[in-house]
Amino acid sequence: MVECVEVMLERWKPYGGKEIELSVASYVEGKDIFQMLRKLTSIISRNAHKIQLPIFKARDNLESEMIDRFIRKSFIDIVEKIEKESGGEVNSFGDDFLGSLMKAHYSVDDCYKVTMDDMIGEFKTFYIAGHETTTGETLRLYPPTLSLIRRLKHEVNLGKLKIPGNTRLHFPVLFVHHDTEIWGEDAHLFKPQRFSQGVAKATNNNPEMFIPFGSGPRRCPGSNFATKEAKIALSMILQRYSFTLSPAYVHSPCEVLTLWPKFGIPIFLHPL
Ligand code: HEM
Repeated sequence: MVECVEVMLERWKPYGGKEIELSVASYVEGKDIFQMLRKLTSIISRNAHKIQLPIFKARDNLESEMIDRFIRKSFIDIVEKIEKESGGEVNSFGDDFLGSLMKAHYSVDDCYKVTMDDMIGEFKTFYIAGHETTTGETLRLYPPTLSLIRRLKHEVNLGKLKIPGNTRLHFPVLFVHHDTEIWGEDAHLFKPQRFSQGVAKATNNNPEMFIPFGSGPRRCPGSNFATKEAKIALSMILQRYSFTLSPAYVHSPCEVLTLWPKFGIPIFLHPL
């Protein structure tokens, strides 16, 4: 993480006092995979409500298949590189997320075994989920995940409602985070001090109303990492730069699977 931020800061050096676009293209490894996943998420997003005809492949279908092949190959290349470096020794795959997946892939116990397709699925989830990071009040006003989805296994009673099994429920995170009954009349304002006495106080004793990372057994497993990542990156940046928003900035949050600034975030970097 620290190494990634250092590489990014090194790249920023020529931009002192100039305008720069905040972007995700500053990762050491996997930059191309990020770009491909970005394309894939925008294809998924613009096709989410379209009906697909199984006999006809639209341009988006062909492009997403091409991207999928690229990601698959990139992932297999990374796995093969690790296998080569470790001499095929399972215990040398490492204890990070990828190492643990590879150990499970080679497990002789069927209960723990994961297929290459499972590994690629997990890898995509981590890459997509792992690069949407900010913290605190920003996550309330602009939660990257705008709604949570659950499919009911059985009929349930929810308050006065009886909801049949196999129903898909969408829980509107954005709406809840902007609810004036919970957050007060100034719910639309950026006020980080709301959280100065913890989430319970900020939510008027309804902590389940602040759910940028979801809730329950499927709650985001990366939440601690994401929060620490944001703190490390921000403190490293602020030791070297202050920054101001460029007048070219246009405030236009839009949903492309997750919430994004439609026209990016141009800023001015001022070396300290
Ligand atoms: C600010 C950053 C992040 C936000 C706002 C966020 C938010 C979320 C949300 C809302 C969910 C769905 C939870 C639910 O359905 O209840 C989720 C799931 C997930 N997140 Fe994150 N996430 C972030 C960062 C990360 C990072 C850094 C990683 C990994 C390194 C990660 C890995 C995952 C995974 C694997 C899941 C799927 C969990 C499951 O289905 O059981 N996330 N995330």
